[in-house]
Amino acid sequence: MDTKVIKSKFPIFQNKINGKQLIYLDSANSSQKPKTVIDRISKFYSKEFSNIGRSVHSLAVIATNRFEETRDLVKKFINAKSREEVIFTKNATEAINLVASTYGEKFINKGDEILITELEHHANYVPWHFIRQRKGAIIKFAECNDKGEVDIDEIKKLITNKTKIIAITHLSNVTGAIMPVKKIVDLANEKKIPVLVDGCQGAPHLEIDMQKLGCDFYAISCHKMYGPTGVGILYAKKKWLDILPPYQGGGGMIEEVKKDNITFPGSPTKFEAGTLQTAEVVGFSESIKFIEGVGIKNIMQHEREILEYGLEEIRKNNSVRIIGDPKNRGSIISFTIKGIHPHDIATILDEDGVAIRAGHHCCQILHKKMGIAASARASLGIYNTKEDIDVLKNSIKKCNKIFNN
Ligand SMILES: Cc1ncc(COP(=O)(O)O)c(C=O)c1O
Repeated sequence: MDTKVIKSKFPIFQNKINGKQLIYLDSANSSQKPKTVIDRISKFYSKEFSNIGRSVHSLAVIATNRFEETRDLVKKFINAKSREEVIFTKNATEAINLVASTYGEKFINKGDEILITELEHHANYVPWHFIRQRKGAIIKFAECNDKGEVDIDEIKKLITNKTKIIAITHLSNVTGAIMPVKKIVDLANEKKIPVLVDGCQGAPHLEIDMQKLGCDFYAISCHKMYGPTGVGILYAKKKWLDILPPYQGGGGMIEEVKKDNITFPGSPTKFEAGTLQTAEVVGFSESIKFIEGVGIKNIMQHEREILEYGLEEIRKNNSVRIIGDPKNRGSIISFTIKGIHPHDIATILDEDGVAIRAGHHCCQILHKKMGIAASARASLGIYNTKEDIDVLKNSIKKCNKIFNN
């Protein structure tokens, strides 16, 4: 794979940051966008824009068709059984909130248990906390080990006849641990417990096939998949969507409204209230085409090479502690440097054009478990190269020189 060609498809890399070539290592936060995605949004607003699903004029029909074509593309991309199983949300956070709120409202009661892990992003904990508060439910945390991964036995031992849902990340946004989703789903199936997967870091870096994974719910963050901001996706098995109540009320999600009663249509309409992020969803169709064009297998192989090189090179620096060492790992390297606050690391790296994230990455529980308040995180995308890692490595050495001399 020619990374130069790939990089050239992303206009952002034509810019200098602090007079330096941009080395973007913050894709777990949000990835950069190829020109095709940017152009698609511009074309939609220039030639095809109208609100969707309401008016009958020609533009409205064109816009509605473009929007729904993206749903079909997503359905195929994730191998959902039907297009009704693809719901557009504003981000993955909203997708998880939708499930916590509707499933929680209907199926979780006092004393029931919600099983999550210590790896979870706040987006897959806080919504369940609300249900804990509202319903008097209990949240159980499967522990992660010092490698930053959760053993399936940890999950197994916490399942009881009170467990109402298992909600797990696909790929940790801190340690990079890839969870054995299929095995967990098989375990849960035996007890008829639904499984929600936070796929924010899984979808951009792994092959995601809903029939193979078998999970009940899968949350996707499109802005981490070379797509526009303002778009998330909830995949849910139709059997759930048929029985869950609507999430938000308003225009566009009703069937018939009377003074004494309101009825609702089926999915996805029931769950997509108000005017949607139309242009962004249409733009996302080009992200899927981009990923498919490169090929998810090529993406995985390329990122694996860069990850392994990065781990090897960064490990040579004795003052660096890499957070976690999971056996099955995705494109993330979180680290601390002795005596230097992660925010200072990020600031110094930025001087060299290297964009990383510093902080708790919305995983305070995991950071506490690792005995730290914050970390620096380099996360990879398809555009990263070994040269990017070399710049990162030298920039880290510069941090040492400034702070530890
Ligand atoms: C693992 C994980 N879950 C959830 C989220 C939230 O995603 P979104 O910004 O689409 O709501 C993120 C984003 O950083 C994440 O990394």
